[in-house]
Amino acid sequence: MSLIVVEGLTKVFPGPTDVVALDGVSLTVEEGEFVSLIGPSGCGKSTLLHILDGLEAATAGRALVAGRPVDGPGPDRGMVFQEYALLPWRTVQANVELGLELRHLPAAERRRVAGDRLALVGLQGFEGRYPHELSGGMRQRVSIARALALQPQILLMDEPFANLDAQTRLLLEEELLAIWQRTGQTVLFVTHDLAEAIAMADRVVIFTARPGRIKDVVRVPLPRPRDVVRVRTTPEFARVYDHVWTQLRDEVLKSREVA
Ligand SMILES: Nc1ncnc2c1ncn2[C@@H]1O[C@H](COP(=O)(O)OP(=O)(O)OP(=O)(O)O)[C@@H](O)[C@H]1O
Ligand SMILES: [Mg+2]
Repeated sequence: MSLIVVEGLTKVFPGPTDVVALDGVSLTVEEGEFVSLIGPSGCGKSTLLHILDGLEAATAGRALVAGRPVDGPGPDRGMVFQEYALLPWRTVQANVELGLELRHLPAAERRRVAGDRLALVGLQGFEGRYPHELSGGMRQRVSIARALALQPQILLMDEPFANLDAQTRLLLEEELLAIWQRTGQTVLFVTHDLAEAIAMADRVVIFTARPGRIKDVVRVPLPRPRDVVRVRTTPEFARVYDHVWTQLRDEVLKSREVA
């Protein structure tokens, strides 16, 4: 049984003119898979992750996790939001500890786990700061540390590295793949960076311009474990990149026409 099953998922946001964010999306993801989602702005990538996290309800179709319909957030799923979603009145440390508190972990254990994850994303020394005292990239790293702290079976990551400088981004790509390899987590990873999508994933899902449908699912035939930098220089990588870009290019052009 696939860990994630999405069947005919449609999401309409009603308004003066209804916005069809997703239109009949079907996708299955196996346990332990790393799947990248890529597509033009506004094609419904965030909406799909929100539905899988249980924050939005679908208009039609269904989303199942481990065979059960998603009906709200749960400890089996951890989300890294595009807009970070940190609590402004809590320190960095307390933001990362939040989910652990909800799981009633003892204080010492919470401190240890949060400190460990903050070190992983390079934020030691910032534990006592508040979100407004951080740069965008630092806030994003707090959000990543918070999701990693819970060790959820499924990581839903919405452009998690978009606001990082290029070097930090490569380091965190490396770290995330190492964590994924170690834990066997299942990752859905939204990015606008084509090279990143391919370097990280087992499969790349390409969305059409809005209304978001799945245009193609491309398997990435690159060996594991992978060096996220070196893999980009291989001929196989270039072949996949060319194939994905050919498909995506049309959709990006279309999305500009309607914008
Ligand atoms: N809560 C909402 N209410 C109304 N419309 C919404 C809402 N959330 C998203 N939309 C609309 O649904 C469409 C898809 O949005 P979504 O955020 O899922 O796109 P996306 O693929 O994540 O884009 P981006 O790459 O820019 O992050 C957009 O047209 C957006 O305006
Ligand atoms: Mg988005």
